Amino acid sequence: MRILGIETSCDETAAAIYDSDQGLLSHALYSQVALHAEYGGVVPELASRDHVRKLLPLIEQALQQAGITRQALDAVAYTAGPGLIGALLVGAGVGRSLAYALKIPAVRVHHMEGHLLAPMLEANPPDFPFVALLVSGGHTQLFRVDGIGQYAMLGDSLDDAAGEAFDKTAKLLGLSYPGGPALAKLAEQGQAGRFKFPRPMTDRPGLDFSFSGLKTFALNTVQREGDDEQTRADIALAFEVAVAETMAIKCRRALQETGLKRLIIAGGVSANQRLRHHLHTMAKKEQAELYYPRLEFCTDNAAMIAFAGSQRLLGGDVQQALALDATARWSLENIETLIAAKAF
Ligand code: KG4
Ligand code: ZN
Repeated sequence: MRILGIETSCDETAAAIYDSDQGLLSHALYSQVALHAEYGGVVPELASRDHVRKLLPLIEQALQQAGITRQALDAVAYTAGPGLIGALLVGAGVGRSLAYALKIPAVRVHHMEGHLLAPMLEANPPDFPFVALLVSGGHTQLFRVDGIGQYAMLGDSLDDAAGEAFDKTAKLLGLSYPGGPALAKLAEQGQAGRFKFPRPMTDRPGLDFSFSGLKTFALNTVQREGDDEQTRADIALAFEVAVAETMAIKCRRALQETGLKRLIIAGGVSANQRLRHHLHTMAKKEQAELYYPRLEFCTDNAAMIAFAGSQRLLGGDVQQALALDATARWSLENIETLIAAKAF
């Protein structure tokens, strides 16, 4: 089955083609980072308008790269939520219309399910069941994953998501949007051990997260210590280590509580090298395997949407209805479980 994936939930426009026999055939992406940079964050209306401009050319590009025509597609998968509603509606409108014109099924994909399954696009994918840490701009969640659509939440963020904490802390350190990668770069110049940030919520049982206090801690440290270049780098490093260690502690707990030996990380923050390093060290001690997507599939992309869509279709989730549906807020726990989910 050949499936076109469409992603327009936030500030990346993307199209990709996945073949259930041959794997990923192509993927094309346009990032709106430059468009939003001067505002210090994503402006929803500008995002929607830019998706309108970029999506059709990107679909053409993905088809060309794959060396196929539209007529060779068997289905279309599009991100139906969660995300910015106007942005989502662009992908939903194009996806549904294209599927209708081609007389093929269209399947709605949960953006976080896309992230969660992204490690399966790599060689040596993890078998079910596994623990998943989803860390993106809007989510910090731990799941026990038993199969496609079988996601039991183990822990969630009580306030800022990990990516949000990175972005806000980066902003107060004077770094431009998007802050996560910029903060990681600044932290490379940091001196280890100068500042020690708290490891929030690790001193009590449970798998929930709270990162908003770290941002305040960073702000207080800047105000106390000054904001010369070296101090900012030292703060960036202390913040990054605190986030990475906190996540490693929670992931170890999740592995121990579930008795599972496989951990996957996905979402934009899973691109963070320090986080990967801390999780590798922890996983080694726990004799567990760690899986993550290649760097370009950690952040938003359409390859993960095409793949998740293919798994839903193979599992029998075909939606022929013409409804144009997009959902701004949608918990992964409320996703339909596929009764006949097949192995892939
Ligand atoms: O998954 P994603 O592309 O979009 C959402 O679904 O939210 O995640 C974007 C988030 C942003 O907050 C960005 O700052 C963060 O991922 N991010 C990083 C890194 N690369 C992206 N955070 C820390 N280190 C990175 N290397
Ligand atoms: Zn995302």
